[in-house]
Amino acid sequence: MGHLVWKPGFEIGIEVVDCQHKLLFAYLNEGMENIADSAGIFDNLKTYASVHFADEVKLMRKSNYPAIEGHVKQHQLFEEQVEHLQSAVMDGESKTIMMLFSFLKDWFLEHILVEDSKFAGYLRATMDKDDITVLTEFDS
Ligand SMILES: [Fe+2]
Repeated sequence: MGHLVWKPGFEIGIEVVDCQHKLLFAYLNEGMENIADSAGIFDNLKTYASVHFADEVKLMRKSNYPAIEGHVKQHQLFEEQVEHLQSAVMDGESKTIMMLFSFLKDWFLEHILVEDSKFAGYLRATMDKDDITVLTEFDS
């Protein structure tokens, strides 16, 4: 799997979320260059996911996003899958780290570009730009 290049078309149009999605790309590329440091890759990824998912869910709650439940379920499955892959890596399955990158790439294509975009479309359709800005000012 080669170096991933961010494209403007990947943006869902909610700045704070797009910045976090770009960060996932950076982790992926960084991780692929330092495959030996699998502990560091998983640490970064898990910290990233907990902050990013919590922020997304806060936005969904504050905007009464009707599809929140299914979306949160996908986040949980992501976290379970990362845990599962981490255990496999610790058990010495050397190919597993490549499975992680392939899983993250699929996640990006299927969750971020589809599900997160739906949520962003919902925000833009139901709120004006200033209200979205206020909504994305997280207190924590
Ligand atoms: Fe999401």
